Amino acid sequence: MIDVQIVQPSDLSQGDSRAAEALVRSAFGDSFRAHDWLHGVDGVHVLVTDDGVLLAHAAVVTRTLSHADDVFDTGYVEGVAVRTDQQGRGLGRLLMDHTESIIRASHDIGALNAVESAATFYAGRGWQPWDGPTQADTPSGVVDTYDTDDRIFLLPTDSPARGFAQSLPLICDWRVGDLW
Ligand SMILES: CC(C)(COP(=O)(O)OP(=O)(O)OC[C@H]1O[C@@H](n2cnc3c(N)ncnc32)[C@H](O)[C@@H]1OP(=O)(O)O)[C@@H](O)C(=O)NCCC(=O)NCCS
Repeated sequence: MIDVQIVQPSDLSQGDSRAAEALVRSAFGDSFRAHDWLHGVDGVHVLVTDDGVLLAHAAVVTRTLSHADDVFDTGYVEGVAVRTDQQGRGLGRLLMDHTESIIRASHDIGALNAVESAATFYAGRGWQPWDGPTQADTPSGVVDTYDTDDRIFLLPTDSPARGFAQSLPLICDWRVGDLW
């Protein structure tokens, strides 16, 4: 039976963590980079299982994004993956339904950086592409981070402060590895 569990990072067992990392690594293949799993591990995990076997995973990590004079408590989505042999049967939709519910319940906005092959998947769910400049607030100051390989999407919520002008930079907080 298909089941969805929402697991706080401190409650993620070593076994579930290992299974989720293996699933995500396998689904991303060669495009999976060194810090990609670490970026999601401290988030709230969404685990889709069938009779206890993990079929899909996503994590919502709390980050801070700012834009103009607004600071957004952001649910940043990492490690979205459906097991390769289970794709195309609605599990990605189920996974993201729950992931977006976490964002709407706990954050001002959602954000993610999509791989090229998944951009249409997110756009079809109402995620809005960010085509404006990007920056990061690093220990050595604010730096430009615009990269043509980034496909950043934002998920607006009912938060009142959500006017985004693409002429102004979207700024993320700092982290090890890829900043977006
Ligand atoms: C992208 C991914 C999560 C989608 O999961 P899935 O289980 O295959 O998707 P679903 O079967 O739930 O499809 C839901 C809808 O999205 C569409 N869709 C699924 N994958 C899509 C894609 N890559 N591009 C465009 N649309 C897609 C489906 O056609 C379906 O549309 P419908 O609601 O109109 O019928 C999955 O293919 C995957 O894990 N890919 C490899 C890892 C990856 O790219 N992760 C995203 C990283 S940012």
